[in-house]
Amino acid sequence: MRKKIVAGNWKMNNALGQSIQLAEEITEQLASINNEAVVVLIPSFIALASIEKIISGQKNIFLGAQNVYPKMNGAYTGEISTEMLKSVDVKYVLVGHSERRDLFYESAEFLKEKIEALLQADLTPIFCCGESLTIRQEQKQEDFVRIQLEKSLLHLSAKQILNCVIAYEPIWAIGSGLNASAEQAQQMHQFIRETISEKYDQVTANSISILYGGSCKPDNAKSIFSQPDVDGGLIGGASLKAKDFISIIQSI
Ligand code: 13P
Repeated sequence: MRKKIVAGNWKMNNALGQSIQLAEEITEQLASINNEAVVVLIPSFIALASIEKIISGQKNIFLGAQNVYPKMNGAYTGEISTEMLKSVDVKYVLVGHSERRDLFYESAEFLKEKIEALLQADLTPIFCCGESLTIRQEQKQEDFVRIQLEKSLLHLSAKQILNCVIAYEPIWAIGSGLNASAEQAQQMHQFIRETISEKYDQVTANSISILYGGSCKPDNAKSIFSQPDVDGGLIGGASLKAKDFISIIQSI
């Protein structure tokens, strides 16, 4: 059975005190519900070490990072390595978020290097893909996402890809309040799974968690998560409020 995962990408929000408070609230509330999903908190780098202490020993809650640089160490001012992330017990790392692709010009080739560095370090990449509004209006979203997968992910061996998580995040849904419908999410998730099945096999495809991201909120999470190929969510805005995030986790 593939894992159900709900990850909160806090993006560039919350200074240290606010991050600690939010992590404490989430951890406390999680302890009082019956939760089967894997929960991942993805704060800014400055909060990782403090949050590690808050969640340590808690069941089903892990730390994620928003970025990584694919070199071991050295003269790369401003960057962060896999070893640094592991030293604060990070388990998951975002790769290919549309904000990094668009605002920081990260290329498919660079994302491929990041994925390889993460797998080598036994860290789990959460590989983000998804189309813009223009591409969706032209009905070219499947071709677009397939190319994103082919360029950065599908060169991996079956054994390696089993250690990856995929997040489908249509750009037009991110931070817009306009989520993909449950049907649109299912269609794309099924397409992603079929693409993996064609390249590898059905068993491999069935073992990979594919998360939905883009204006996922307490009021739409249940219908999106109920789709057969949706294995959870990558949550932005709604992960910044403990109550909303917990409610989304409970929708799994
Ligand atoms: P929102 O949930 O704020 O739309 O953000 C989604 C996202 O980009 C998560 O990585």
